[in-house]
Amino acid sequence: MADVRVMKEKEQETEVNEAQIAVHWKEEQYFYPSSKFIGQAYLTDPAVDQRFSEKNFPECFREYADLLSWDQYWHTTLDTSDAPFWKWYAGGKLNASYNCIDRHLEQYRNKAAFVFVGEPEDVPPLSITYQELYYQVNEMAALLRDFGGLKAGDRVTIHMPVVPELPITMLACARLGVIHSVVFGGFSGEACGMRAADSGSKVLVTIDGYYRSGAMTDHKEKADIAVKTAKDEKHTIEKVLVWHREPGKYNSKTPMVEGRDFFVEDVLKKYAGQIVEPVPMPSEAPLFLMYTSGTTGRPKGCQHGTGGYLSYVAGTTKYIQDLHPTDVYWCMADIGWITGHSYIVYGPLALAATSVLYEGVPNYPDAGRPWRVAKRLNVNIFHTSPTAIRMLRKAGPDEPAKYDYHFKHMTTVGEPIEPEVWKWYHEVVGKGEAVIVDTWWQTETGGFLCSTKPAIDPMKPGSAGPALPGIYPVIFDEEGKEVKGGSGKAGNICIRNPWPGMFQTIYGDRDRFVAQYYRKYNKNPKSKDWRDWPYFAGDGAVQAPDGYFRILGRVDDVINVAGHRLGTKELESACLTVNEVAEAAVIPVVDEVKGRVPEVYVSLKPGQHNATAVSEAVTKAIEHQIGKIARPKKVHVVPDMPKTRSGKIMRRVLAAISNQMDTGDVTTLANPDVVEQIRVMVQGNRPVITKDVPEDVKRFGEER
Ligand code: WT7
Repeated sequence: MADVRVMKEKEQETEVNEAQIAVHWKEEQYFYPSSKFIGQAYLTDPAVDQRFSEKNFPECFREYADLLSWDQYWHTTLDTSDAPFWKWYAGGKLNASYNCIDRHLEQYRNKAAFVFVGEPEDVPPLSITYQELYYQVNEMAALLRDFGGLKAGDRVTIHMPVVPELPITMLACARLGVIHSVVFGGFSGEACGMRAADSGSKVLVTIDGYYRSGAMTDHKEKADIAVKTAKDEKHTIEKVLVWHREPGKYNSKTPMVEGRDFFVEDVLKKYAGQIVEPVPMPSEAPLFLMYTSGTTGRPKGCQHGTGGYLSYVAGTTKYIQDLHPTDVYWCMADIGWITGHSYIVYGPLALAATSVLYEGVPNYPDAGRPWRVAKRLNVNIFHTSPTAIRMLRKAGPDEPAKYDYHFKHMTTVGEPIEPEVWKWYHEVVGKGEAVIVDTWWQTETGGFLCSTKPAIDPMKPGSAGPALPGIYPVIFDEEGKEVKGGSGKAGNICIRNPWPGMFQTIYGDRDRFVAQYYRKYNKNPKSKDWRDWPYFAGDGAVQAPDGYFRILGRVDDVINVAGHRLGTKELESACLTVNEVAEAAVIPVVDEVKGRVPEVYVSLKPGQHNATAVSEAVTKAIEHQIGKIARPKKVHVVPDMPKTRSGKIMRRVLAAISNQMDTGDVTTLANPDVVEQIRVMVQGNRPVITKDVPEDVKRFGEER
């Protein structure tokens, strides 16, 4: 196999083409798991790939569902009658809260389900046992049902940071069959209100404040904006339930609105000690919505089901995270993203694990914090993003060595990781002892799609690895022709088959679901055969001769900022709310730590304007409508946008300028002179870079 690779490398060297530039990270050496890791791992039998091969599909996925406790066993593993709206484990009934809590009590009652680490370092961590979680989830479920008036199928928006009350609220919803929609705490009140309106949530659960970067942030003020925004969208949020970050203390300057806002702490008293029977839900009943950005303006609510989703996250947590009940597992992500739902809450709890919750930023008060937490809690499985790794490496490359902790397993997720950064993670953070899995997946996919199987497949820095058992990817070119592995060519990665973690639909928008994820490569819209419905992931990828996939980044108008998806159209519409702005274009710029960051170009309406004031207003508008994570690196006020003769803004040209690239041939544009004006304005005399620019940036805004 190695020989083939050497030959291919030689071949590629002589043929310098677009695809090669796209994959400028060279093929790396393999790294192997230690025998110590293999000796204790759940998944060590390579026959798993045969077991999950296409001829055993979909029945192979029984194995995952059998990790759960069902109130009623299912009759059909995969029902394709309403393709591509797949139904997994049809006929089955189960409750997610029961599976994550009740069924563990007999054996693990006094084991920690969560260990909460607040950001202030002088307050000791708080352990919540399965018994205590059971008690608190039941009380909250009683409150949501009897005080909130909620029943199975209703939606609830939860806008909270990483504190135990967030998973407690989620699990309380799940107990009732209520669909939760958690909005990332860092999103603005306006973003929360839009999502609450879209989901039709009558109840908003929030918190007064929380610690972030060393200070108490007022969070309740966002709830007031959310209620107002929802109202502008013609939707009424009837009740706002406010948790306290610190018992008995109100960390917000906003008043509680009479008849609308209620302290959970007060109302809970009435439900003390109440037990709520978990409601057996049909396997395909929605468990939650998770809003994410796409190509069009509005974020879409990805709807995940109960049986399929929970089975898939339980299976992948067990086999890919190798999570045993005796492990201490820390996923340093936010529960407000899919990573947190699947791999902080549902996957780990379904397996009776101990899952660490961390409230703050990784480098508070310094870059040694994560390693002190790891040592104190005896964490042995660690999970984070390339952005966090880059940040910790930059701020404290020698810090991990100062602390006596030992990881057996580490995960990276959310963005491509540079081989150099991967190696620091392996050698310094993992002390050369831990296996690493680079897991590629998406909000839509519920769980991992590509990763090495930690005790079976060797690791290769910079490559996610092969597909997971039961996942059959394919790379297509624009015409739908298969791009073969080892060809050195990039294309659009698709998954040929459905899998249990796949989301069910975009909430309230079946057409958009089909259009966005299936239309491109489906040849027969009437087909009920899953083979006719490859899932279009929206990522570029290349497959090496050894079958490993390297993910190159988004092929649509989405920018991956620090592992979080931002739709450029959302940012552009925020810019247009500034009165002076006539046109706006948002493009990605390569950033050393965050991967990509957005940069904004605006042209102004006729008249006298102060460019500095306008740029500030644009930044404010983005922060207000989306949140601080979307804050642009720069706002350029330009005389006009580069446009095609048909009037389309050439975002690709702007992306080239911002990334110090050559703009290429622009003579066919309607206004080539403007390009040169903007180029001089932005690039000045700096030398132009022509190589090593990632594919997603190079092709950004291209017509596809
Ligand atoms: C997009 C999905 C997956 C949970 C967190 C992000 C990118 C994700 C990897 C990886 C390279 C990755 C893709 C994908 N991505 N994981 N291991 N290597 N790129 O979920 O917000 O839905 O974003 O993140 O571009 O499409 P998300």
